[in-house]
Amino acid sequence: MILPEIIRNKLDSLLLEIGGNKLKLIREELTEKYKLRSGTGESLINSENDAIVYALCRMPATYGVLYSLVSELIFEEKINNISSLTDIGSGTGAGYFVFKELFDNLQFRLYDREKNMREVLVKLSDGEVKPENLDIVLSKPSEKSDFVLCSYVLSELSENMRMKAFENLLLCSNKYVLVVDTGTPKVYEEYLKLKPFAEALGFRVKAPCMCDVCPLENDYCQFYARVERSAALRQSKSASQTYEDEKYFYLLFEKCDNKTVQKNIDCKSRVIRRPVIKTNMCELVLCTTNGVKKQVFTKKNKEQYKKAKKTKINELIKGNKGIYD
Ligand SMILES: C[S@@+](CC[C@H](N)C(=O)[O-])C[C@H]1O[C@@H](n2cnc3c(N)ncnc32)[C@H](O)[C@@H]1O
Repeated sequence: MILPEIIRNKLDSLLLEIGGNKLKLIREELTEKYKLRSGTGESLINSENDAIVYALCRMPATYGVLYSLVSELIFEEKINNISSLTDIGSGTGAGYFVFKELFDNLQFRLYDREKNMREVLVKLSDGEVKPENLDIVLSKPSEKSDFVLCSYVLSELSENMRMKAFENLLLCSNKYVLVVDTGTPKVYEEYLKLKPFAEALGFRVKAPCMCDVCPLENDYCQFYARVERSAALRQSKSASQTYEDEKYFYLLFEKCDNKTVQKNIDCKSRVIRRPVIKTNMCELVLCTTNGVKKQVFTKKNKEQYKKAKKTKINELIKGNKGIYD
């Protein structure tokens, strides 16, 4: 999924402002900063140029991930009836542009602690939105929304800060909290620690988990979205491929009506690895409500074999014991 044309045109003008040589240098400095200092809670975007380069090189990918994820959650009916969105760490607007595209008449409340990021978002949205200054570790928005989004923010924080920020996310939501980040073992581990904390405050995981306790051992779970590689990113990396498969991890929490946190009763299984296809057989690894299961399909049952071969990673499949049971 690619950014709407109007935003791409605005990004093209920003690219002209910065110039190709500077872009490469700033992107490399930013990448280095993220490598060394992400996870400390330090501010990583320190100038207008940093914010512009983030928008040029990174936002097309975060937009692509969010678009594919939120569309899937809508399709699976995991999200219903929302009339307001709070985006914490709204950055240059990936979340805002996705929700604007997918929902009608949403009320937006956007917050970021970085002035430069807020200003670039104002420019990209033609002043349609005015994100407010807020540090989610220190305080929460005064108004609640039905849906609270926090994408690619929590992994920048230290563990203590993350827990404080997450508590504030839960406290400003009427219904849902969606946290999204890069698909790495570290993020998976950090995010699983959020689950008991959310339960204590009356929220349960609505997606993607099939089980209350993750059944994966010495392993981790991640999702993929095929996303646009922006012209700026290609230029700064001297790369020609126009897309990449962006790995991400997410948890969608839903507030429970009563004080008791209900068990996850979703009776579906999720394909968590790419199908392994060998001569005359196809093996699927599934996360089910009964734990992780491997299922082998052979040509003996042609219909099932054909279906299994075409299965995509992340796909949800009917049946809580395994595929086609
Ligand atoms: C990697 S960017 C992600 C931006 C956007 N959410 C996206 O998905 O493209 C992280 C953003 O979170 C903001 N941020 C980091 N820590 C924050 C905090 N404690 N409170 C509010 N915003 C924060 C940063 O300023 C930055 O704009």
